[in-house]
Amino acid sequence: MENRPQWGTRAGFILAAVGSAVGLGNIWRFPGVAYENGGGAFFLPYLFALLTAGIPLLILEFTIGHKYRGSAPLSFFRMKKGAEWLGWWQLAISFIISTYYAVIIAWAMAYGYFSIGKQWGEDPLTFLVGDYLKVVDAGQVGSVVPGVFFPLLLVWIITLGILFKGVKKGIEVANKIFIPALVVLFMIIVVRALTLDGAIDGVNAFFKPDWGQIMNGKVWVAAYGQIFFSLSIAFAIMITYSSYLPKKSDITNNAFIAGFANSSFELLAGIGVFGALGFMAMQQGLPIDEVVSKGVILAFAVFPQIINELPAFSAAFGVLFFLCLTLAGLSSLISIVETYVAGVQEKFKVSRTKAVAIGGGLSALISVLYATQGGLNFLDTVDAFINNYGVAFAGLIEIIIVAWIAKELTNLRDHANGISDIVLGSWWIICLKYITPVVLGIMMVMNVMTDLE
Ligand code: PHE
Ligand code: NA
Repeated sequence: MENRPQWGTRAGFILAAVGSAVGLGNIWRFPGVAYENGGGAFFLPYLFALLTAGIPLLILEFTIGHKYRGSAPLSFFRMKKGAEWLGWWQLAISFIISTYYAVIIAWAMAYGYFSIGKQWGEDPLTFLVGDYLKVVDAGQVGSVVPGVFFPLLLVWIITLGILFKGVKKGIEVANKIFIPALVVLFMIIVVRALTLDGAIDGVNAFFKPDWGQIMNGKVWVAAYGQIFFSLSIAFAIMITYSSYLPKKSDITNNAFIAGFANSSFELLAGIGVFGALGFMAMQQGLPIDEVVSKGVILAFAVFPQIINELPAFSAAFGVLFFLCLTLAGLSSLISIVETYVAGVQEKFKVSRTKAVAIGGGLSALISVLYATQGGLNFLDTVDAFINNYGVAFAGLIEIIIVAWIAKELTNLRDHANGISDIVLGSWWIICLKYITPVVLGIMMVMNVMTDLE
């Protein structure tokens, strides 16, 4: 603890936190999730989740890391003996996520390359599932696909290379380059998308509220799920990152900045993606509804189609778009791997180099599974499970332990208020102690019930 690494600057910490938050979830997940769950009306549950759960939890995790100065297991242990397992549970979720998150970044890299010359041909969907991913029926896992393997190797070399260099020289420097670059490049993409024919129709479709959906429990589940995943909370990440803060740090302000930056990016991505979808709908004479998608299909089948139809500079647009996905993804992957690297390092008292080699190496090895024929089936299942159960459950348990078992909320608030400009009032306690656990509890029950149906 005495030699605990530290961020060099406040901006460095904020950029790293934003780098973790802004990821694939913002670009390829949010736009489709919002559209499916009420469009403009989705913003109500989304904002509710952000303000009553997302930002309060972000402040909580920043405070825990800052106060106890450890990765998640050690911090929870210092808060309450017997709570260490919660940290390990969160690390395990992070570990699982990292194994498939890396693969998606690898695809993004490969697709950046395919953009030059549009190597996916006239029918990008067939190219994706057939030639590139070699998707076969579930259960029929085959040999490693070379086209996926090599970019994956590159992703791990970059990520582990940065982590070997440590917090200040590695993570901080990388984020100081990646995040400003990402913002500038992504702006270019959005402006280009919005100036295409039909873009306005797409954006209108995105914001058109379907108020009938607002009382649907599924919409609320989607809003909370998006906020948790998007802000990287309940994954031990923000605790780890804030444990590297200097003693004098404005925690609350940093949390607001990171939270709003992430949501702004998400909104921007929604506008850009739907602008591009509006263009495609017009080109193909289809209603927007039929071209909307999210996740793998959006990024690797629909976007290539959009790129195919662009009137000019299509290769450049493709390269930029996939570069944005890659940068956003890498800065998140770095944070995910760092959480278990830090945890392993502290628990087993090994050097950073060893922890990176063992933790990162293991994750890299497992990730190769998804680079096999049929790996996509596998990835989808794991992703759905993690999102439906792992995250909300970890968040719920975290709140119950901190607020109800360790009864630390007031102490933590005092700690944050002692060093921050914004003074946390009782709203913070009310959100964390009552509102969020009740909503998360209902969500958990609903998830189990729909899965049992
Ligand atoms: N927040 C990241 C995103 O939006 C994903 C992520 C999840 C990062 C969990 C770290 C941990 O894509
Ligand atoms: Na995010």
